[in-house]
Amino acid sequence: METMVNNIAIEKAKTSKIHDVDFDNLSFGSVYTDHMLVCDYKNGEWEAPKIVPYQPITLDPSAKIFHYGQSIFEGMKAYKDEDGKVFLFRPLENFKRLNKSAERLAIPQLPESHFMDGLHALIQLESDWIPTNAGSSLYIRPFIFASGTGFHASPANEYKFIIACAPSGSYFSGKVKVLIEETYSRAANGGVGYAKAGGNYAGQFYPTKLAADKGYQQVIWTDDNAHEYIEEAGAMNVFVRINDTLMTAPTNDRILDGITRKSILDIAKDEGIKTEVRKISVHELVEAAKNGSLKEMFGAGTAAVVSPISGFGFHGEDYTLPELTNSYASVLKKRITDIQYNRAEDKFGWRYPVE
Ligand code: PLP
Ligand code: COI
Repeated sequence: METMVNNIAIEKAKTSKIHDVDFDNLSFGSVYTDHMLVCDYKNGEWEAPKIVPYQPITLDPSAKIFHYGQSIFEGMKAYKDEDGKVFLFRPLENFKRLNKSAERLAIPQLPESHFMDGLHALIQLESDWIPTNAGSSLYIRPFIFASGTGFHASPANEYKFIIACAPSGSYFSGKVKVLIEETYSRAANGGVGYAKAGGNYAGQFYPTKLAADKGYQQVIWTDDNAHEYIEEAGAMNVFVRINDTLMTAPTNDRILDGITRKSILDIAKDEGIKTEVRKISVHELVEAAKNGSLKEMFGAGTAAVVSPISGFGFHGEDYTLPELTNSYASVLKKRITDIQYNRAEDKFGWRYPVE
């Protein structure tokens, strides 16, 4: 039976899978909730989004997603506070970035109401699935791909926008050891690095596997020109603390403009931490590690939140970072998660209640 909630048609699942899920032992993004939002682009327009039971989708083998990789996605989280109230974090930023990615991949712009009203209705419906254990949340994956068919190498004429949700624990189990990449590149000038395009991740898997074989969990990507400046990690923006200054690379067309990154910069300034957004060379990083002025490095992203880096490898050498009490990473992680989980005042206006 179908009902309408805030203009979104909802077809409810006949049974729920929620009792099969071990909420005390959640990994990241590997079990999915009972429903998903689906919205088709056909005949030159986005149709009304609807919520249906979570299910496989059928595609023609000539769907352009398979051949030309026209696919983009977002990553967001829903949080539940101690009173059971549900919040999203800066969801409009994800919507805007999805359309920025869409533009670059020649995918039609999605109307704001399709995204926001659909997301709201879905999260309301799935609110029982939002975990409350420390560090857990409901990971939300909005994505758009070319479902239209044809071997002609040109944009498809049909697309699907879907939002799926996965109750999730931490992305990393502990500190992250990273390898500074000297051979491969994630993105190039004028390319799609700033978009959240599926292919950006596919291209990272092989170099990341080579790094994993050497004992590193993530690659730190460097500029494609000379591998001279650090840019970002596989699924995170990167912060570096030299003495008491916190730095991160400026965004450009090779770097994803992370919502966590810009929130961390604002919180750090509010904490009175000196921040610099500037190019950071590998040479400077190595020198700072050698002379002891490199105090911390951490990654920042929706999935990874704030993930401290234990050390980095470069040119066959490993550089280990000190263990600090009251690290910037721990202070900033507490501040951002306190806002996300409604444990502290939200002076920036970032929390979005789902009521
Ligand atoms: N950089 C890359 C390549 C990412 O995949 C992500 C994850 O979304 C980020 C940075 C962090 O972005 P955000 O904080 O908006 O999740
Ligand atoms: C996120 O942080 O939401 C991401 O998209 C990272 C993802 C590649 C796991």
